[in-house]
Amino acid sequence: MAFVATDALAGPDRFELEGRPVPETLLNDVVRLLCRHRSVRSYRPDPLPEGVLEVLVTAAQSASTSRHFQAYSIVAVQDPERKKRLAELSNNGFVADAPLVLVFCPDLHRLEAVSRRQGYEFAERGMDMFLQAVVDTALAAQNAAIAAESLGLGICYIGGIRDAVVEVAELLRLPPRTFALFAMTVGYPAGPTHVRPRLPMDVVLHRETYSDDKLEEGLRRYDEITAASGIYARRAAPEDGGEPRLYGWCEHTARRLARPHPKRAALRRQLEELGWEF
Ligand SMILES: Cc1cc2nc3c(=O)[nH]c(=O)nc-3n(C[C@H](O)[C@H](O)[C@H](O)COP(=O)(O)O)c2cc1C
Repeated sequence: MAFVATDALAGPDRFELEGRPVPETLLNDVVRLLCRHRSVRSYRPDPLPEGVLEVLVTAAQSASTSRHFQAYSIVAVQDPERKKRLAELSNNGFVADAPLVLVFCPDLHRLEAVSRRQGYEFAERGMDMFLQAVVDTALAAQNAAIAAESLGLGICYIGGIRDAVVEVAELLRLPPRTFALFAMTVGYPAGPTHVRPRLPMDVVLHRETYSDDKLEEGLRRYDEITAASGIYARRAAPEDGGEPRLYGWCEHTARRLARPHPKRAALRRQLEELGWEF
């Protein structure tokens, strides 16, 4: 079956949006799908077809996984009350309206059980195991995301669940040495969505060695594009005195970085409470 294109996911892909010339022969369906991604935050109530969950999880499990440890678990949430609670805890109201919410959890609990089962000590559990589990989880999630988008579904990652990492662990009855890294809402898009401009490639791509030579010019261009795109239209709060500034990606990002996230400042201690070691 070919990839499903819906009206909601139509519009220019990233090559068209950013005017990047590329040989037509390199633009296959997979590349086009990847470059059409946009987060979807509004869903039709339609149920998902039978078998979709298993297809998404099979795609997720097909991602590369460090040392074949497969150090993650996925909790599929469809119960309306539990979705509502996840929406509250993550401060993302639309989570309640998505037909399916997948919660992606780095998982050393299962590996510890395997060690115990085989009669070994579970000694490999420091910082690098945390990183391996987080990376495995993210790769699995992105495979699920692409599979969903190829079926005409929309997704949105929800890092907001880390605002309440302990409460989410309780809600999902997560065992020690797991935690909810992020959720992903899945469903049919309720309306049109658009591809968001990314940083100019010459700011992100360094050839042979790292260089900031193109940074300033790239940021200036990107600020103009993002300010004109309207994505920050509702966010550009008036400034307290001083010269009015262009409200683009740089201003938006720098304002967010100006203080630690109020709900995540204790994350390391909370993860330690959940059995993680660094
Ligand atoms: C790990 C992760 C966590 C995210 N958390 C949230 C979230 O809590 N709420 C939300 O609305 N979007 C969330 N997003 C979506 C990003 O805001 C979005 O990917 C970004 O603005 C770029 O937009 P695009 O995905 O439409 O290209 C998250 C994305 C990632 C990768």
